[in-house]
Amino acid sequence: MSQGYQDDAPTAEQLAASIETESINKQRRYFLIGATAAIGAVGIGGAAVPFVASWAPSAKARALGAPVTIDISKLQPGEMLGPTPAWRGQPIFVVSRTPAMLEVLEEPNPDLADPDSENLEQQPDYARNPFRSRRAEIGVYVGLCTHLGCSPKYYSEVRPEPFDANWKGGFFCPCHGSRFDLSGRVVKAVPAPDNLPVPPYRFISDSVVVIGQDEETA
Ligand code: FES
Repeated sequence: MSQGYQDDAPTAEQLAASIETESINKQRRYFLIGATAAIGAVGIGGAAVPFVASWAPSAKARALGAPVTIDISKLQPGEMLGPTPAWRGQPIFVVSRTPAMLEVLEEPNPDLADPDSENLEQQPDYARNPFRSRRAEIGVYVGLCTHLGCSPKYYSEVRPEPFDANWKGGFFCPCHGSRFDLSGRVVKAVPAPDNLPVPPYRFISDSVVVIGQDEETA
């Protein structure tokens, strides 16, 4: 028995060969595990790139949100410039008001729905005045009706119009008849619920205005 046991026992050479084989197998397993992890990492990295790319705003989106510079040097009193190049996809109206127009805007008008610009969403603080503007003679508005987004028309003359016998100048929306005065304030009992929005803006000279940028957003 004892002899048989001794016969079955591995020799020193066999033991060494066995240990070496086990070591090689271990190395292969580590290699395979490492290779699999590396391939997985590459796969995850490859999949992550499109997500990262999609988080970054596109050049087009950045351009759409970028400030727009407008030269108003050729704008004559009483005229409107616009629609100008769009800001954030919205047309911008720039009007130059005469002293007579400013007088009309300063008169109390019981027909207006929000004469004192109490809806703070519709303009920055510096446009909370009868002219809804930084400079009384220059008005800057988003040219979209606050009802369903048509573009209102500019009717500057103080005279009876088919849509208003007592028209004092302003904007008329042809889609459903909403009316706004010369500072974009909506009249009562029309479909549009709010005054025309005033975008953030600032003057960088007497004749150049930047839309979409002011002291807060610069
Ligand atoms: S969209 Fe202007 S009144 Fe309806």
